[in-house]
Amino acid sequence: MLETPYYIFDEAALTARANTLRSLLPAGAGLVYAVKANPFLAGWAAKTADRLELCSPGEALLCEDLGIDKGRFVVSGVWKDEAFLSGLLDRGGDAAVYTVESPAQYALLKKLATERQVTLRLLLRLSSGNQFGMDEETLIPLALDCVSCGALTFGGLQFYSGTQKTNLKKLGREIEKLFGLAEKLRALGVEVPEVEYGPGFPVTYFEGETFDEPAYFAALREMLAETGYKGRLSFETGRSFAASCGDYVTSVRDIKHTDGANYLVTDGGIHQLSYFGQMMAMKRPFVDVLQNTAAPDGEEREYTVVGALCTVNDVLFRGLCLKNAEICDRIVFHRTGAYCVTEGIALFLTRDLPRVYLKNADGSVNEVRGRIETKALNTPAQP
Ligand SMILES: Cc1ncc(COP(=O)(O)O)c(C=O)c1O
Repeated sequence: MLETPYYIFDEAALTARANTLRSLLPAGAGLVYAVKANPFLAGWAAKTADRLELCSPGEALLCEDLGIDKGRFVVSGVWKDEAFLSGLLDRGGDAAVYTVESPAQYALLKKLATERQVTLRLLLRLSSGNQFGMDEETLIPLALDCVSCGALTFGGLQFYSGTQKTNLKKLGREIEKLFGLAEKLRALGVEVPEVEYGPGFPVTYFEGETFDEPAYFAALREMLAETGYKGRLSFETGRSFAASCGDYVTSVRDIKHTDGANYLVTDGGIHQLSYFGQMMAMKRPFVDVLQNTAAPDGEEREYTVVGALCTVNDVLFRGLCLKNAEICDRIVFHRTGAYCVTEGIALFLTRDLPRVYLKNADGSVNEVRGRIETKALNTPAQP
């Protein structure tokens, strides 16, 4: 029995999800996996996605260590400094595609390409009204410069507009804006060979949510077809690609009845379980309970499942109805393949980081990260 708390990620589920996404996207579209969603999946994602989007030196090194071909890297991110880019270029990074988030990034990439006598392929990132990317007025002159610069290739546009977006009207407006820009560039004599688009494909995390995924994608395909865009389409996704392949497993460590309420205290917590849109367990994620008692026949009780942090916010699930709840029963939280492992407030209470297991396509399970103490990270170094 694996020691809780832990994450387990399933390759067969990830591959199945990649196939589903491909069937939902416009025919021939590229699939780009955003490594930030779950770095532990990068190796598997490299087998099924066309490219991997990485946003930091750490993500780049991790993908390099996995032996992923740099020709499949999309090097993205709002802060790319010279040390990072030079290091990557020294290691064959000229095969990658680079996004450009600002005129300064553009100038730096141009300088590095010229100095090294390599040609770098750039995607200019259009802003969605925040600190990321550039507005049209800033981007258009760079595109014009790029097509006339021998050291650079204008690869096209990148646009990421936010996560968990279900509103089709908003989607329509952003498609208009993005492909309107491609049209404007075309009118200026700049062909846009590729649009890499991250619409923040939604994931259903909670009971009762009514997101109709096939209808959403049908509408997306139709809106994209209406743009008349003839270049290559690629879609960046993290959450929608990865969420369904992961479980987070905790054990019950204490059972309490306080002021009429029943609590199951687990060895997990909100520092390790992060569902977008969750607040104090106001919504119910998809869970299963693995009970010690094979055939529970006691009185049913309703429990609040909490974690082991010192905050009243550390509520994982409300209204779990169980008979014969016992210490060491396991609670399995589904759809935890994206962001849980990276986004949690991991250092709070100096709790250990949970183990991570990969369940390979052949059914074998590997521990790929043991339990890690965080004490060293929360301790001042001695002078
Ligand atoms: C540039 C970029 N692409 C892709 C993603 C992945 O987003 P999601 O997980 O919503 O698909 C993100 C998330 O922050 C991002 O910043």
